[in-house]
Amino acid sequence: MGFRRRLLLVHLMAVVLIVTCAAAAGWWLLSQSVLGQLDAALLALGETEAGLLADGSPEAIHVHEPRPGTAPPSLVRLDRLVQIIDANGAVVARSNNLGAGTLPVSADLLKSLAHGQTVFDTLPHASEEPLRMVSVPVRLGEHRYAVLVAGSLDDADRTLDSAALLFGGLAVALLLALAAAGAILTGRLFGTVERIAAQARRISDASLGERLAHPGSDDEIGQLVQTLNSMLGRLQRAFELQRNFTANAAHEIRSPLSRLRTEIELSLRRPRTAEEHVATLQSCLEEVVGLTSMVEELLQLARLDAGQESRQPESVALDALTREAIARWEGSAAARGIQLILHAPQTVQARVGERAAMLVLNNLLDNAIKFSAPDSAVELRISAEAGGATLEVLDRGPGIASADQEQLFERFYRGRASRQGQTSGAGLGLAIVRSVLDGYGATITINNRNDGPGAACRLHFPGRQAARKG
Ligand SMILES: Nc1ncnc2c1ncn2[C@@H]1O[C@H](COP(=O)(O)OP(=O)(O)O)[C@@H](O)[C@H]1O
Ligand SMILES: [Mg+2]
Repeated sequence: MGFRRRLLLVHLMAVVLIVTCAAAAGWWLLSQSVLGQLDAALLALGETEAGLLADGSPEAIHVHEPRPGTAPPSLVRLDRLVQIIDANGAVVARSNNLGAGTLPVSADLLKSLAHGQTVFDTLPHASEEPLRMVSVPVRLGEHRYAVLVAGSLDDADRTLDSAALLFGGLAVALLLALAAAGAILTGRLFGTVERIAAQARRISDASLGERLAHPGSDDEIGQLVQTLNSMLGRLQRAFELQRNFTANAAHEIRSPLSRLRTEIELSLRRPRTAEEHVATLQSCLEEVVGLTSMVEELLQLARLDAGQESRQPESVALDALTREAIARWEGSAAARGIQLILHAPQTVQARVGERAAMLVLNNLLDNAIKFSAPDSAVELRISAEAGGATLEVLDRGPGIASADQEQLFERFYRGRASRQGQTSGAGLGLAIVRSVLDGYGATITINNRNDGPGAACRLHFPGRQAARKG
């Protein structure tokens, strides 16, 4: 059964239950009130008669009836049957309208009267109409009597029958109205949901630019549509990045390959001297080295994307690791007259993988050295903070152009510094750095230095750090 049917069924069951209970309760309250009124009228007459009886003498016990044609009109006695009995249940006096009949007296009734209790009874078969009867005990000297007053239940029953019909009719009408309202509401709700589902089915990877039509309300459905639309936006961006990535990768590989081909074709066109061959081979080697490092970077990214790189953080001595990286890059820095300076006043532990940290350091040092002005200094600062460890790489290069800031970490993005200096690189380094750091909850920002020209790259590693003066 569909969710819509189930919801409707639950709604119907709830409506039936509530309406039935409400109608039954209403009818019960009304019947109590009608019966209560009858009981009160019977008791009033019974007590009046009992009072008169107690005031009279035991010899002249009789029912006080208005003499025909003389008393004022009395609605109190209308249709009321009155009977006086003694302690044994023997009839002592009766009202005229009882005719030859008597009001029934049970052993239980006599017992209750003997205890001085006033008793109410319903007698369904005592006469041609069902009767309600009250019995009031009276003490007259040594003797005990009781006044029994009965009235017809016919009027009350008829009132209650009409009320039952009215309540029943109202309940059915209410039931139909509520059921119809429920059906219309669920129909509307699920109609909207089905429309959204149909729209969502039409959206494929080729039409990720499409969005679901907003129902125009700020309710749960509106919020759902908004959430789905923003998810579509994210998917679209991810798809576009993926598409661009493949196109960029193909382009980046094709350019050096076509340069290689041209060089080789040119040198084969006519005989060359040994020196010319050496020069050609050297230039080809440079292209091959560039291609190899780019393919290695692409593989690195593919592994990071696939989650194959281990991301188990360990406690790594950041200062020692940085010293190791500096030693590795000292040669190429010195070739450009660049000095690598480390400020690490203490041993700083960072929660990161050792191989991952080395990969990040290599990429940042590569950038700092290749973008730095010749004969300048690259500074590395390491410090421990309450929230983790910080590593800064500061250079004296051209700094970051504001147009580049947004895209520095995109794959294959090369910025102003790269174009100005004609440096090597495929624009994958920072994308790799960011992807690696993301895996460890670490962050990176690159800005211009505020103490002169150059870029300041700031890394923050979270977590438990242990620092001691070194
Ligand atoms: N230290 C830096 N100084 C100036 N620009 C930088 C620096 N580091 C990175 N950039 C800019 O960010 C771009 C992307 O860097 P990266 O992803 O490492 O690519 P690549 O080094 O291959 O150019 C660079 O092309 C450059 O424009
Ligand atoms: Mg780089």
